[in-house]
Amino acid sequence: MQQLWRALSYFRADWPRVLAGLALLALTTLAGLLKPWPLALIVDSVLGHNPFPESVGRQIGGLPLPTQLALLVGAMVALHLGSALLGAAQNAVVIVTGLRGLSRVRRAVFDWLLRLSLRRLQGAQAGDLIYRATWDTYAFQTLFTQGVFTFLGALASVIAMTVVMWRLNGLLTLVALATVPLLLLVMQAFGGRMGRRAGEAQSADAGIATTVQQLVTNLQLIQSFTREAKEAEHFERQSQNSFAARWGQHRAEVLYLSTVSAVFALGTAAIIWFGSKQVISGSLSIGQLLVFLAYLTQLYDPLNQLSHVGSTVTNARAGTHRVLELLQEGSTMKDGNRSVVRGVDTGLEFDRVAFGYTKERPVLHEVSFRVGAGEAVALIGPSGAGKTTLLQFIPRFLDPDGGTVRLGGTDLREFSLHSLRENVALVLQEPLLLPTSIAENIGYGRPNATRAQIEAAARAANAHSYIENLPQGYDTVVGDGAARLSVGEKQRLNLARAFLKDAPILLLDEPTSALDAESEALVLVSLRELMRGRTTVMVAHRLGTLRTVNRIISLQDGRVAESGTAEELLASAGYYAKVSGGQ
Ligand SMILES: Nc1ncnc2c1ncn2[C@@H]1O[C@H](COP(=O)(O)OP(=O)(O)OP(=O)(O)O)[C@@H](O)[C@H]1O
Ligand SMILES: [Mg+2]
Repeated sequence: MQQLWRALSYFRADWPRVLAGLALLALTTLAGLLKPWPLALIVDSVLGHNPFPESVGRQIGGLPLPTQLALLVGAMVALHLGSALLGAAQNAVVIVTGLRGLSRVRRAVFDWLLRLSLRRLQGAQAGDLIYRATWDTYAFQTLFTQGVFTFLGALASVIAMTVVMWRLNGLLTLVALATVPLLLLVMQAFGGRMGRRAGEAQSADAGIATTVQQLVTNLQLIQSFTREAKEAEHFERQSQNSFAARWGQHRAEVLYLSTVSAVFALGTAAIIWFGSKQVISGSLSIGQLLVFLAYLTQLYDPLNQLSHVGSTVTNARAGTHRVLELLQEGSTMKDGNRSVVRGVDTGLEFDRVAFGYTKERPVLHEVSFRVGAGEAVALIGPSGAGKTTLLQFIPRFLDPDGGTVRLGGTDLREFSLHSLRENVALVLQEPLLLPTSIAENIGYGRPNATRAQIEAAARAANAHSYIENLPQGYDTVVGDGAARLSVGEKQRLNLARAFLKDAPILLLDEPTSALDAESEALVLVSLRELMRGRTTVMVAHRLGTLRTVNRIISLQDGRVAESGTAEELLASAGYYAKVSGGQ
């Protein structure tokens, strides 16, 4: 129930539309209620001999018969037209409001994804997230249009018609109402099963989305190790899961709807039986029986809808649950409110930082070191030592489990994420590019950069000459056939992006690892220029790169093993001396 309210809260902002929809609903119900009456009057008072009831006015009886007929037929047409128009207007309002709510939910999911912490993202399956954001969000619309409006409309019709029927004939009304408890029993019996099956079906489909997404991203790996058959087998299993879950869902639905139809058939039969007997005995006029039968067919629809609402809402709830589950999880990164002051908040300090991606396997134990304002420090250490992990703390992609990371003496957690990240330029070990033009990729961190600034950054990263040779130069779209870039070319684009960002803190994770000696030498000249006056932490192994920094910190088994200038480390005969010996 609480989940239901939470799901519907996305429609609260549209309350004027909701009210308009409700008003139209009330009018439509009223029109439906009046529809069979002109025919009843024709039968009883125009063709038959009953006087016109007070409510329509006795004086109609004084008019000539053709006029009476014309008036009533006209009323009939007007009522049918009016109720059709009102129904259409109501539908339009409800559909628009439903779609607006859908957009709002999708926006909320997208915002949630934007704030997602790296740790949460690494544990997530992209296909599943995509499925939830695109398909499961439809459930909110369904819940609103069918769960709320169809339900309210059907309920209003049932209540209004029951009241009128009761005033016409108590016995027949009781017979009609006898179907309601039966219906409730049927809903009770099938509701839970249908809900579970719907949930299973949605999970199974999300599994398919995940498998396809993994296939698309890893196709080359799969093909190079000729694992196609195995992957097909895996997909087949997923596909069968989905089949079983969907078939189970539809089986339950079909069974449910058939049972409901049987209950209605029983009810209709009973009413025709008792009603005809009353007409024969003369206790019911033919016109009233016509109204009654008309209401009965009109009642069948809303009751039928009410019985569907159960299954629709349980289906939709499975979807809204999968979306709300994400949104309620929240963003694990707590935001601070302090702004980074340029020129003041510059020195970095790691104070007994401890961290593990999982509890069982700590990666960092008690890492402590300082990087003075404007100082450049290199992190070295064997693969898996935790160098990349250490860098992730500075823009707060991760928070340490123990200890503190400070910037200018202030715990990083006190800064706003936005301000902190604005002041950090990061070049990742695996270069990331967006599927837009080269110029936009370089200018990503500075959207108002001029073309001249972008070119200067590209020159500094030794990327200008190869970009010039691309078919459309800086306007070439990355990833298009002609613009498949090599790893080294991508790396230089990432460097150019960092050059352009002009942030006081510079984090570089093996920024030149994919470059040949000549390109590296050129990039290092610019890098040295860039690092001047900026606090720099760089993961690097090559001697040439290490010569650009003031100090080297060597990480071993999650601890700082050595720290000092290149000469000092050489003298101490530790890790650095060992690895640099060969170069
Ligand atoms: N997302 C993750 N989830 C779980 N474990 C991780 C994750 N990322 C890294 N690790 C583990 O943490 C340890 C440190 O990884 P990290 O990437 O920091 O190493 P590194 O020093 O940068 O290595 P390399 O020189 O190979 O880049 C490794 O043992 C790695 O397996
Ligand atoms: Mg690394």
